Amino acid sequence: MKISIIGSGYVGLTTGACFADIGHEVICIDNDSNKIKSLLAGNIPIYEPGLEELVKKNVKKGTLHFTESIEEGVEKSLVIFIAVPTPPLEDGSVDMTYIEKVARQIAAVLKDYRVIVDKSTVPVKTGEKVYQTIKRYNSHKSEFDVVSNPEFLREGVAIHDLLHPDRVVIGATSERAIKIMKEVYAPFKAPILITDLNSAELIKHASNSFLALKISYINALSRICEAAGANVQMVAEGMGLDHRIGKHFLKAGIGWGGSCFPKDVAAFIKISQELGYDFKLLKEVSQINNDQKEIFLRKIRNVLWVLKDKRIGLLGLAFKNNTDDVRSSVAMDLARVFLKEGAIVQAFDPKAMGKAKELLPSIHYCSSALEVAEEADCIVLATEWEEFINLDWKSMKSKMISPIIFDGRNLLDKKKMIEMGYHYVGVGN
Ligand code: UDX
Repeated sequence: MKISIIGSGYVGLTTGACFADIGHEVICIDNDSNKIKSLLAGNIPIYEPGLEELVKKNVKKGTLHFTESIEEGVEKSLVIFIAVPTPPLEDGSVDMTYIEKVARQIAAVLKDYRVIVDKSTVPVKTGEKVYQTIKRYNSHKSEFDVVSNPEFLREGVAIHDLLHPDRVVIGATSERAIKIMKEVYAPFKAPILITDLNSAELIKHASNSFLALKISYINALSRICEAAGANVQMVAEGMGLDHRIGKHFLKAGIGWGGSCFPKDVAAFIKISQELGYDFKLLKEVSQINNDQKEIFLRKIRNVLWVLKDKRIGLLGLAFKNNTDDVRSSVAMDLARVFLKEGAIVQAFDPKAMGKAKELLPSIHYCSSALEVAEEADCIVLATEWEEFINLDWKSMKSKMISPIIFDGRNLLDKKKMIEMGYHYVGVGN
């Protein structure tokens, strides 16, 4: 199958590499000429485990190509995926300018039948608008179909999620387009759900909001556990064993961040409002998440009293483990507050320091996790990198002024840390 993907960001690039790997002929397109030049030179602009190898392998094999030209992609491919950003606007609604522009660009060069697939996360009814836009600007009056095919990949495990999806959702009504989309996904051997366009678009916002809700629920429970002297990790384990609930996304901590949940929850609240429904439940989900960070900060202030001139060792900057992404990262938010209150922040992250430096140059970036302990008044663990579990916590302690640890991810074993002599503060335990 000949496929083009417009937008070579996290979603577009990883999807393109996986499609190429399972045997399709793929062209990845981006309007950022530096990005395309760097990809052509074999440099991958993001860190995603396994991506670099996959890109290199398939470029060498000749099934993965890069170009700036939408015209070339549309001409050479039967299926055109749109994977451009849909960033949030101030009021929580979605900026649709990139999608709209791409729809016009496709229309201008569309000469034969093509399936135009929206992969970006978009408000319900976007597919209908993309269809009308292409129809309006297509001077050749060619035939085409518009399909919604939302992406559910998680950063950090994107390759796995793409190659082994729980489900593939295809929102389309045209039998011709459905047949082609089934061929695109046949090699994946995943369950395929065919829906109408609007339902497919809703599935994405509904799923992400539900996952955010699940985390906010356990975070709210963490407060009850603290007040009651219970342990939220045990409560989560007990709940998760019920297969109707499931054990995933029940890790209490400093709250959810990243490029998807904050923007998708805000967007879904706005979309619902525009459709005449006040989604109060989701407003509360978002509020719990904001409060979770504040409550954690309050704990730090309670112990350290004044943050000014305190040396805070910050472990983690990425919004979660196995990624270099710092967009809407709670760890970065904490660093901002520490700096604002006059603390010295010395931080380490295995992958995200490059991106963090661009946003927060006044942090002192350490060359190892051990270094964050140097003369520190406390350590704040803000990202759930597994390698932080097995640090030499004894040596860390010997370097600190006072051995206090605020574990914002409940990553460490509380009992062991206390036995080692740490003052340990976790979340709901
Ligand atoms: C998410 C969705 O999972 C994915 O399906 C969608 O396509 C994009 O958005 P991602 O943003 O990569 O993926 O991150 P995810 O692994 O879902 O984690 C989101 C945030 O929740 C992170 O900040 C993470 O630290 C936090 N989290 C996750 C918790 O606090 N507790 C949990 O139990 C799980």
